[in-house]
Amino acid sequence: MTPRPLTVAVVGATGVVGRTMIQVLSEREFPVAELRLLASGRSPGRTGSLDGRTYDVGKAEPGAFDGVDIALFSAGADVSRELAPEAVRRGATVIDNSSAWRMEPNVPLVVSQVNPDDLAWHEGIVANPNCSTMQLAPVLMALRDSVGIERVVVDTYQSVSGTGADAVAELEDQVQAHVEGRPTTAAVYPHPIAFNALPEIDTFLENGYTKEEWKVVTESRKILHLPELRISCTAVRIPVFVSHSEAVHVETRDPLTPERARRLFEAVPGVVVRDDPATHDYPLATEAAGRDEVFVGRVRTDPSIPDGRGIAFWVVSDNLRKGAATNAVELAELLIARDQVRAASRRAGAPARGA
Ligand SMILES: NC(=O)c1ccc[n+]([C@@H]2O[C@H](COP(=O)([O-])OP(=O)(O)OC[C@H]3O[C@@H](n4cnc5c(N)ncnc54)[C@H](OP(=O)(O)O)[C@@H]3O)[C@@H](O)[C@H]2O)c1
Repeated sequence: MTPRPLTVAVVGATGVVGRTMIQVLSEREFPVAELRLLASGRSPGRTGSLDGRTYDVGKAEPGAFDGVDIALFSAGADVSRELAPEAVRRGATVIDNSSAWRMEPNVPLVVSQVNPDDLAWHEGIVANPNCSTMQLAPVLMALRDSVGIERVVVDTYQSVSGTGADAVAELEDQVQAHVEGRPTTAAVYPHPIAFNALPEIDTFLENGYTKEEWKVVTESRKILHLPELRISCTAVRIPVFVSHSEAVHVETRDPLTPERARRLFEAVPGVVVRDDPATHDYPLATEAAGRDEVFVGRVRTDPSIPDGRGIAFWVVSDNLRKGAATNAVELAELLIARDQVRAASRRAGAPARGA
């Protein structure tokens, strides 16, 4: 069945994620009847284009959602908190990229190939996970379903595009300043990001973790339906433009060889194993950039865990695509395919709440 073309709004359409969303909608031939590009309204006269048509960028305000079927939000948590309920009130279903709604019990938090069935109980808002969590969940799912997970330790190496357009410009400027012998200035981050590694992503919490680290902990538990999962994270910003990398150590319940782990990872849709140390073949940020897959490599036994129950590996993915835009569009596609674009309360026989 050809899906009915929908009215789609992109909120934050001028940002790095918003622009990638428009590109992904086009690449995947998403059935768009009308596109509304929305942003702060601070820079009038801006445009975006989809499939050769140019659209003016309008101001994101409640009335802009009249008649919208699906609204893809990526304009920060404050905007989502204020405008997502307004969009839902007007009949739209929101797929939200910010952290505003992810941990709300009545909002499904969904990675397309991990927990798509959670979409069934949405009440108008579906949350897209944090980019670091997004690339981790499919590989952890493979271990959860085969050998069980006892404990996870993940350390991230995150690109500046994860912060947004200002951070990309700041890294470019600092690199240029270094080449020209100019002093560097830091505005987006508390220290220079060029030629550095900053163990501070988002704000610090009372428990000593950063919010980004804690998102990986709490979001992974929710997506994987493992509320007691023992998981710890250190999140580090590095001077890479696109793609996040992660070093992951997992203690499994049952023994697991690297060979079997590679087969398990490979069987997950959207996961690609690149793992041949002899030819220096392993996932790289530069090669993952522009791709939709999650790449896994450096798979090896962690000998610090007894009985062959320790596995270590390296996971890389484009934070703007699978980490944000691609998963959001995949969720919109699933909503259409499963006839769940409308909230559960407006669908006959739909479940009220999931696990
Ligand atoms: N970057 C990533 O890898 C990533 C991954 C997952 C989730 N996210 C989330 O996606 C969101 C956007 O991130 P980004 O990286 O695209 O940031 P960005 O490049 O800084 O873009 C921010 C966007 O939000 C818009 N905006 C700002 N204030 C607004 C307001 N008051 N009303 C309406 N629109 C407003 C901006 O519009 P103007 O141009 O008009 O200012 C711009 O379009 C954030 O919530 C972020 O946490 C980002």
